[in-house]
Amino acid sequence: MKRNISPSLLSANFTNLTKDIKTVEDLGVSRLHLDVMDGHFVPNLTFGPFIISQIRETTKLHLETHLMIANAEKYLEDYAKAGSDTIIVHYEVSKNIKSDLRTIRKLGKKAGIAFNPDTDYKLIRPFFDDLDYILIMSVFPGFGGQKFIKSTLESMEKLVHETKNHKITLAVDGGVNLDTIDKIYETGIDVTIVGSALYGANDVKKRYFDLINE
Ligand code: DX5
Ligand code: ZN
Repeated sequence: MKRNISPSLLSANFTNLTKDIKTVEDLGVSRLHLDVMDGHFVPNLTFGPFIISQIRETTKLHLETHLMIANAEKYLEDYAKAGSDTIIVHYEVSKNIKSDLRTIRKLGKKAGIAFNPDTDYKLIRPFFDDLDYILIMSVFPGFGGQKFIKSTLESMEKLVHETKNHKITLAVDGGVNLDTIDKIYETGIDVTIVGSALYGANDVKKRYFDLINE
């Protein structure tokens, strides 16, 4: 099956976002990954609904919004209105995961959980019925360009097995590059998020086809 890559705009050029989005659209990707950081849950700040609504106007790609923010429950409606298609909340910071996931679905969006490399994947089990998407973090969230944490491969294998009777998209985020991508797809996951290893390449098109192994 063709490898599904969701480019992370964190490594794109924000003064020329339309061009960087068009580049990956032309390559045939179906989704884009948007990293929202609050400088509180993670030690970095990025962008919010205002930028996402502008991105929404430039593309029809599926937008997955990765919320690395505290008090996400206050903002779910804003991120839905901005045009996100999947909204992902972090297990570690959510006050009530079930309620967040249900709110996201009530807003007509796909509901996702992200969890950190040191969070036990088993903690996600109680939410399988409320989930459309699981984001397995293979680095600690906050920055692009970090080194892949190998021990997370085990969570990938386990979740592939345990979710096989559910309609849940399994995605992996952080440190996905030419050295790590084969091992990651071997686990059976559905999507990888790629930031620096794609947008940081001199030839983005060649890098994309090397990553998807075509
Ligand atoms: C990290 C973000 C990632 C990031 C991945 O906190 O959630 O989506 O953009 O970047 P790379 O691919 O460079 O590890
Ligand atoms: Zn992310």
